Amino acid sequence: MSSMSPESILMPAECRSALAPPHQVKHAFSRIPAGVAIVATMDADGVPQGLTASTVTPLSLEPPMLLVCMNRSVHCLPAFSQARRFAVSMLRPEHRDLASRFAKHATDKFDGVSWSRGALGQPVIDGALATFECERDEMLPGGDHIILTGLIQRAHAGEEGMAMVYLARRFHGLAVGGAD
Ligand SMILES: Cc1cc2nc3c(=O)[nH]c(=O)nc-3n(C[C@H](O)[C@H](O)[C@H](O)COP(=O)(O)O)c2cc1C
Repeated sequence: MSSMSPESILMPAECRSALAPPHQVKHAFSRIPAGVAIVATMDADGVPQGLTASTVTPLSLEPPMLLVCMNRSVHCLPAFSQARRFAVSMLRPEHRDLASRFAKHATDKFDGVSWSRGALGQPVIDGALATFECERDEMLPGGDHIILTGLIQRAHAGEEGMAMVYLARRFHGLAVGGAD
């Protein structure tokens, strides 16, 4: 068997027309259950900025890393590219209003929200299921998204209870440590 050259890994232009249409992909993506997080950072003026994200993914243990995919169009993207650090707060079902609030563009998303600065000064949501404070590592291209990777400097697992899960465009609750 011949070894695979880098050229053969690159997709030839004629194959591009064979890509699945976005609406079908979006519908199929909606069948992937995902945890829901508020991903946040402090901007250059010391104002917290953030968004709801269901693309937080564990990446590596040594070194400890995670990734989150951000649409190139999100308004808070420049804040993440300027900041050295960011935080991830995994949500519980009772954070549903928060998840909806942070999924719409606004400059005052944190007003009236119960949040605090984590050990490294990043904005974390009070009562989160788990929090991660990260040093920003890379911002890699990924189609219409940017893949933000972070080196985890602080990780905290909160009380057990329920995790928020996004599936079929709805929020659900899933017990942590429940029966199989
Ligand atoms: C459940 C859920 C998950 C989402 N996950 C992501 C995500 O992983 N990445 C992303 O870029 N946008 C995601 N969004 C959309 C952003 O939260 C939304 O575009 C937000 O308004 C961006 O904030 P900004 O434009 O004020 O910065 C998600 C929305 C919802 C409701």
